[in-house]
Amino acid sequence: MSSSHSYPLAKIGLIGGGQLGRMTIKAAKRLGATCTVLDPDDHCPACQLAAKQLVAGYYDADAIRQLSNEVDVLTFELEDIDADTLASLEAEGKAVYPSSAVLKTIQDKLVQKQFLAANDIPTSEFIEANEPSAELFEQFGYPLVQKARRGGYDGRGVAIMKTADSFDKHLPVPSLIERFVKADKEIAILVARSTKGEVKTYPPVEMVFNDENMLDILLAPALILETVAQEAQRIAEKTVEALNGVGIFGVEMFVTEDGQVLVNEIAPRTHNSGHHTIEANITDQFEQHLRAILGLPLGSTETLCPAAMVNLLGAPGETGKPELRGLDETLSISGVNLHLYGKNKTSPYRKMGHITILDKDIKQAAEKAALVKTLITIGAEKNDE
Ligand SMILES: Nc1ncnc2c1ncn2[C@@H]1O[C@H](COP(=O)(O)OP(=O)(O)OP(=O)(O)O)[C@@H](O)[C@H]1O
Ligand SMILES: [Mg+2]
Repeated sequence: MSSSHSYPLAKIGLIGGGQLGRMTIKAAKRLGATCTVLDPDDHCPACQLAAKQLVAGYYDADAIRQLSNEVDVLTFELEDIDADTLASLEAEGKAVYPSSAVLKTIQDKLVQKQFLAANDIPTSEFIEANEPSAELFEQFGYPLVQKARRGGYDGRGVAIMKTADSFDKHLPVPSLIERFVKADKEIAILVARSTKGEVKTYPPVEMVFNDENMLDILLAPALILETVAQEAQRIAEKTVEALNGVGIFGVEMFVTEDGQVLVNEIAPRTHNSGHHTIEANITDQFEQHLRAILGLPLGSTETLCPAAMVNLLGAPGETGKPELRGLDETLSISGVNLHLYGKNKTSPYRKMGHITILDKDIKQAAEKAALVKTLITIGAEKNDE
């Protein structure tokens, strides 16, 4: 018998209304689902497109309950949310994907590392550092990386220390410390797993970071050996299977100089390293996530065209109403796809949008991406300081 669905397909409750949520809603509309967003900002990127918004914080238990009452399935676009309330809702029979258990494992970076170690997933050696001290760090040995157990993102909550002299930079919060990895490359792999257990994996992408440890240019697919790519995909799939995860996951990894693959961390959601999939792959990460949580067949992850992606960050030293400089010059380059997130205020390094450049020759795509970065600036209007 052929499958049958009511239309709209489902009502989705999305916790978090940033750019990931915005792009998820665009995919939901295509797929015939509706979204209600929960976010404290009534001008957030996602709520501009959502069917409805609940203006509330990510730890507002009453608002999350209200959201749950209004929808068929709950999902999220950020980790720093109230997992306990999600756990109670699950206990009452509500569908929450990824599950609160998966979210709790990932929210605490120490628990996440312990999960990786317990499942024989290669990751850098680590110890708990709930009370960071010079003695403990010395004993573990430098160079090391300290990571706050909770609340870090975009490199905040991470302190890289090459020698004991840099202990001054340590974070005075419950943490883990791990070996500094001499990485040849940083790559990421998106893995989708559906409520039916179907798994689809995207080709690895390569991330290049700037001095602020933010993603600078992304190359898709990564320029790595096919054997390394296959090993990385195997490890990424194993990670998501071990988690029993449902939805899409971004698995961030290091490739060491001798070609070893180590998992850095897992994001239980759509990921900055997958934005190019909108144009460059048959099924984009946002639609794939929705297919996964709605129990629909997953789409092909095949690459249609190599791509480079750059984040458009707010210019340093400028805060206020955004002003787009160099837009025409940027749009004149063939292969450029512009995505702006609808944020009405820019501030230094804020993610305001991204550009994906398609080119059959990935080196050309990378060169165009470097050029685009010199051409386009998102600053603030002068009289808006
Ligand atoms: N063990 C390590 N060895 C070397 N570099 C590391 C290590 N751990 C983290 N880093 C560097 O710090 C960056 C940020 O670390 P991580 O991804 O764990 O933190 P995050 O705050 O969750 O970042 P994001 O939100 O950007 O993913 C990594 O992308 C990598 O460049
Ligand atoms: Mg990271």
